[in-house]
Amino acid sequence: MGYLNTGGGKSEGSANLMTDGNREDWENACRIAAQALDYGCGLIRPGAKVRDIAESVEKKILELGGQMAFPAQLSLDSTAAHSCPDVNDATELKSELVKLDIGVHVNGWIGDNARTVDLSGQHAALVKASRDALEAAVKLMRPEVRLAEVGRAIQETISAAGFAPIRNLSGHGLGQYMVHIAPNVPNFDSGERTVLQEGQVFAVEPFATSGQGLVVDTSNATIFSIVQQRPQRDAGAKQLLEHCAHYNGLPFAARWLAPLMPQFRLSLALRSLQSSGAMRAYPPLVEKTRGLVSQAEYTVLVKDKPVVLTRS
Ligand code: CO
Repeated sequence: MGYLNTGGGKSEGSANLMTDGNREDWENACRIAAQALDYGCGLIRPGAKVRDIAESVEKKILELGGQMAFPAQLSLDSTAAHSCPDVNDATELKSELVKLDIGVHVNGWIGDNARTVDLSGQHAALVKASRDALEAAVKLMRPEVRLAEVGRAIQETISAAGFAPIRNLSGHGLGQYMVHIAPNVPNFDSGERTVLQEGQVFAVEPFATSGQGLVVDTSNATIFSIVQQRPQRDAGAKQLLEHCAHYNGLPFAARWLAPLMPQFRLSLALRSLQSSGAMRAYPPLVEKTRGLVSQAEYTVLVKDKPVVLTRS
């Protein structure tokens, strides 16, 4: 799940280290995330409904013994990330460029991975550009390598293929029940001087586009997370805030809340939670010039020989 770099301040925390205490959970989460991604990509075909795919993937994650670290996302064409079908979404796939992004946790330790499926058969070079950039980046996920070097490898690979990296989306550190923690893994040479440390775990996720290489917020978010407890006047908002405590601050889908109350009350409650500052929204991110976007993502362990934890 891409981290939107707004330029104002840094994401919080610092990348957690894999230790003997969390290794098994973390490796399991990553293995399940990779299996669920394989499974989900197999469901992406013309005529399939995005809502059915998201629901099937989420069911598969639970069957495999994981929990969702965030909702399954299917972002189409010039939408780069954070697009998640709502309960009434009837979108049927035809010939889109589909990014499937999946997050799984086991006891809070997160595996995050994504892949692009090209239903048109016209965009193989764009798909390959982000995949090649990911493989180039992984090779550099070694102790003492500067993050800017990783970004430069991504940028050079994508540029050499004739496309642009998306500069305001980045990879990110992963922590227990935290999808986005510092430091970020830039998708271009950002000048970031921070060096990698052995044992750190990162989501590395280059995005390549035929457009300018910037994403912008849209409206109609369907993904949210609780950021702090705030008193609520609206009874529905109060109920949602209590219910959502069990996500432990991880992003969730409005779709998952649909059984709790009628749709109009849910919309109202979600709006109250946002305006009170208790909840943040993750609106779909669209490439500014409506360029097509491809994405490739692994969860990677920093080592002298870097380990892709989500390799299927
Ligand atoms: Co991610």
